[in-house]
Amino acid sequence: MMDASPRSVPSSSAAVQRCIRAWCGASFGIRERIYVCRNCGGPLEIAVPLPSASETVALRARWRARAGSLDPRDRSGVWRFREVLPFGDEAPIVTLAEGNTPLYDAPRCARYSGLDALRLKHQGCNPTGSFKDTGMTTCVTQAALLGARTVVCASTGNTSASLAAYAARAGLQCAILLPRGQITSSKLAQSMDYGAIVCEIDGNFDDCMRLIREIAEDPSIYLANSINPFRIEGQKTVAFELMEQCEWRVPDHVVVPGGNMGNSSAFGKGFEEMRQLGLIDRLPKLSVIQAEGAGPLARLFGNLQAEPKSDRTSIPEELTPVENPQTLATAIKIGSPVSWEKALRSVIGSHGQVITVSEKEIADSKAMIGRDGIGCEPASATTVAGIRKLVAAHFIRRDELVAAVLTGHLLKDPDYVSQYHRGTLPLGPDTRDRKTGEQPNIGAFRNAPVQVAASKNAILDQLRRANS
Ligand code: F0G
Repeated sequence: MMDASPRSVPSSSAAVQRCIRAWCGASFGIRERIYVCRNCGGPLEIAVPLPSASETVALRARWRARAGSLDPRDRSGVWRFREVLPFGDEAPIVTLAEGNTPLYDAPRCARYSGLDALRLKHQGCNPTGSFKDTGMTTCVTQAALLGARTVVCASTGNTSASLAAYAARAGLQCAILLPRGQITSSKLAQSMDYGAIVCEIDGNFDDCMRLIREIAEDPSIYLANSINPFRIEGQKTVAFELMEQCEWRVPDHVVVPGGNMGNSSAFGKGFEEMRQLGLIDRLPKLSVIQAEGAGPLARLFGNLQAEPKSDRTSIPEELTPVENPQTLATAIKIGSPVSWEKALRSVIGSHGQVITVSEKEIADSKAMIGRDGIGCEPASATTVAGIRKLVAAHFIRRDELVAAVLTGHLLKDPDYVSQYHRGTLPLGPDTRDRKTGEQPNIGAFRNAPVQVAASKNAILDQLRRANS
């Protein structure tokens, strides 16, 4: 194997699964097939024995050198950081060369948001077009280690596409539970192509999630939703990769969309581990953006902020779900996120925010991201919309370093894009002015195709008109 280091990767056999609730803190073996604490039902995370802080300079160099290696583990932007993963050398790694995604400068989005500069980490450039791949490589590797035969998940479309692909690579049976009619056709097509058993049910994502947790009680079945802490382990490496791309200069703010809250939890864990390792000396403020119609964590966070100062940092015991979540950003149409406690802990611990943005703010921000030459799916655009709001609210200063995470590729939802640009996307109630026909709830950056006669002059005329 080509490794920049002569030393072998330290075995992570001392890693344990641990309940995140401070008053419980129960630990379980790394090979136990559990998804929540057996003691109190709380969320689990993996406590990984981290390398010693004296190794940080060597680690940085080793991780970077691996990017140029041809070893399949090094080609993966996740396994490149394997010193912080809970796997030993014997793990049968299931990889599609995920990670190593670009960090783009986005000058138009920066101007639109009121910032001097903005950088976008595009997780849509993963093998199946979303950030889920970075967690699925570790989760399906763990499934293989445990000898699972079937892997399952509930999904709004991206988790399922990703799981279906990684299960196919590992030769495992894959079954996915989807809310019928609420998944984009591109995401559904991916899962069918990768050979998953696609079960569409009457109900929403939260119903699917409830059901799949019951199904996963069967010992032959392995659950791959982000409640599974092995998903978070892979996803946390995105924070490491982001810091490498920032040359280890900590951004002031990192902004992510929020749905089931695995991504925000993973970023929080990644940054915290880098701080413990001495790779960074402070945490970026981690802010989570939800859609207005699917914002249970933003509501809880808002209520917390209204509390007396001393209570604002304690994690409440319950989150009140949004019963009938609504948003055109179907990826985050979730009313009862499973990882809300972890995410909230990271937001509070880093002094970030959780806010919501409207459908129109999401849609216009998405089109603005497009104008920077970067295509993402609607859920990802909550970030730029949220940053714009947080700048206006003076939470983010115009000269601060800000990175946003785009979670999915534009081609995940081409119907949304097309409807936006043709002015047919239902961004809110029809408030069209009867006389003028003006419709405020329509995209500000529409760019519909024009019908032009099939002649050179007509086309040149059209170009001139567009330039004037
Ligand atoms: N962005 C995209 C494109 C997503 O697909 C998701 C979640 C999120 C953001 C939110 O991330 O859940 O970690 O807070 N999609 C899941 C799915 C729920 O089933 O594909 P999160």
